[in-house]
Amino acid sequence: MKAMLRIAIDGPSGAGKSTIAKEVAKKLGIDYIDTGAMYRAVGYKMKREGIAADDEAALGAMLENTDIDFAEGDIILDGAIVNDVIRTSEISKMASVCSALLPVREKLVEIQRSMGNRKSVIMDGRDIATNVLPNAEYKFFLTASAKERAQRRHKELLQKGEEITFEAVLSDIEKRDHNDMTRKLNPLRKAADALEVDTTGLSIEEVAAFILKEIK
Ligand code: DC
Repeated sequence: MKAMLRIAIDGPSGAGKSTIAKEVAKKLGIDYIDTGAMYRAVGYKMKREGIAADDEAALGAMLENTDIDFAEGDIILDGAIVNDVIRTSEISKMASVCSALLPVREKLVEIQRSMGNRKSVIMDGRDIATNVLPNAEYKFFLTASAKERAQRRHKELLQKGEEITFEAVLSDIEKRDHNDMTRKLNPLRKAADALEVDTTGLSIEEVAAFILKEIK
């Protein structure tokens, strides 16, 4: 039987986690789990159904009837692929709000743990090394300056046709960093045994190569 390999990648928005994790997953032939996409899918459904963050009853009922999974790299919400609709700046804010809610975290962390215990995975998010997979064989904490992260995100949004200024993206990133780092439940922080990688000025290939070298 092949040994299980679990790689945890945490860090703030725009640090390059998902692009790098996808690349490393491909090279190693293991599954990539984007946990941010799961919070985005819940945020998207809350928005679509008009559920307020403080409406515990409606939120609980919605979560009971929510199915989130991945299939061949696509994120599936209740049977439908939602890859694109969850990547807007509006849903980024909704995801940040809903990721601070206990019932949402409980549900998603349980799914993430069961994914990580079934097979070898590379999983990225905010609390993977500290909370979801504390026994992961490898843990990395990716960072980059807020300015560089905002530049990367701004470029991505413009390519998708969103009309948004660099200043607005930078301000959103700073707000999200603050929310993610100061929330009570599983805030973003580096695990004591995680290796920190500052990706400012580095290419995707350089960071992926560094991670692969550490793993081998
Ligand atoms: O990585 P991302 O930008 O797609 O994440 C969307 C939001 O979800 C972000 O505000 C942080 C939150 N999140 C979280 O709280 N825990 C995770 N494991 C992953 C994401």
